[in-house]
Amino acid sequence: MNERDSEALAVMLARAGYSVVYDEDDADAVLLNTCAVRELAERKAIGKAGHLIARRKAGKALRVGVLGCMAQNRGPALAGSIPGLDLVVGTQQLHHVPELLDRVFEREEGGPIVALEEEEGSQNAISEHPAQFQAAAFVSIMQGCNMRCSYCIVPRTRGKERCRPIEHIVQECRELAARGTKEVTLLGQIVTSYGRREIPFVDGKSPFVQLVEAVAKVDGIERIRFTSPHPRGFKEDLVDAFRCIPKLMPCVHLPVQSGSDAVLRAMNRPYSAAKYLEIVDALREAVPGICITTDVIVGFPNESEEDFARTVELFEKVRFDMAYVFKYSPRPGAPGDALPDNVYEEEKEERNQRLLDLLAQYSLERNQTYVGTVQEILVEGRARRGENRWMGRNPTGRKVIFPSEANLAGQLVSVRIDSASVTALEGELVSALEEQTLTLVRVEQL
Ligand code: 5AD
Ligand code: SF4
Repeated sequence: MNERDSEALAVMLARAGYSVVYDEDDADAVLLNTCAVRELAERKAIGKAGHLIARRKAGKALRVGVLGCMAQNRGPALAGSIPGLDLVVGTQQLHHVPELLDRVFEREEGGPIVALEEEEGSQNAISEHPAQFQAAAFVSIMQGCNMRCSYCIVPRTRGKERCRPIEHIVQECRELAARGTKEVTLLGQIVTSYGRREIPFVDGKSPFVQLVEAVAKVDGIERIRFTSPHPRGFKEDLVDAFRCIPKLMPCVHLPVQSGSDAVLRAMNRPYSAAKYLEIVDALREAVPGICITTDVIVGFPNESEEDFARTVELFEKVRFDMAYVFKYSPRPGAPGDALPDNVYEEEKEERNQRLLDLLAQYSLERNQTYVGTVQEILVEGRARRGENRWMGRNPTGRKVIFPSEANLAGQLVSVRIDSASVTALEGELVSALEEQTLTLVRVEQL
């Protein structure tokens, strides 16, 4: 979500006459778009801002701004804790950054410019994409969350749920498709709540499923993904969507947070581990081989060994393809901030490691099942290492690396998988002939 916000903001800044530089040393202003989900993220951002401001003392006229969730969370007090800050901008004011930055440059000196107000319609502001080609793009469909998960600061930083109209989102996808983008990931804090108040159900289909159907009708968009749904809103219509909409990729990121019903209750997550497993079963029945990933928190207040054993059990049952494992981090201002952070750090670390070990095993096993198969890959760009090596993803989102002399960025190609590691697959284009044809197609396009 933050990456997408930053990307859209960079376009707005460029339009206002700024240019983005990729080396911090060349910048006249550095804007840090921050996360507040865990304390470590906040600490890093504060450290970075302080470090940048300190460089000013060495004679560099550098302007420094802090944007996004941490700015919203800490409010004007943030300016006090980072002396010398020029700009503090909250999540609903991001699109005003170009004019606010102009003001920072215009004035001689003074305290920071602070913009933290809520703004009606601000969810519609994140819609621009960079001119550079993107095979796969993110599309923000909504902002905010109305849940009150006890550990979570997001409803406070991102505000109440506000959705963008279906037509606007579809139009954005059309424009992306016109530039050659083939895949979109629909983004929201709780996409299963998309449009719940504004858009009626049609034929038993929720507004979110209606949105996915509308995006699937966009010519040129071949792949759709989304993140993140909530188990509570994951109903039959969404499971059916995976069966009925071929463009919807067989890949679901479904945060579970814990496998213990007691912990889920304390987290204010309104489902049980059994209910979660029912959704997983329904998805696997609808789409065999579907990839399921999750978020999980270890060391939540009062999480006992017994509770943690339930999470391990759930992991063993689901055999997640991948998961983000987080150590509980108390967030002042979150609904459950009075809960005691009473699981020792070493215990959190050990639980964290146990889940990571399981995940490495599941991921490798799963990746090995692809060896010998031919996968359809959307080529995103050059691989980080090696000359003439390309990186793309298969339908389940696995990273695939393969060699090619030709530039295939943005193409859907067939790759035979030869080897697998925990994190990636490697293979060869299915036929050189096909590669040549693709090159010719590209030359014609040019
Ligand atoms: N501590 C640890 N992890 C957290 N998350 C959210 N808040 C916290 C917290 N206070 C995790 C959840 C969420 C993901 C984005 O971050 O797992 O799904
Ligand atoms: Fe946070 Fe819960 Fe909303 Fe997700 S559903 S953003 S975890 S409050």
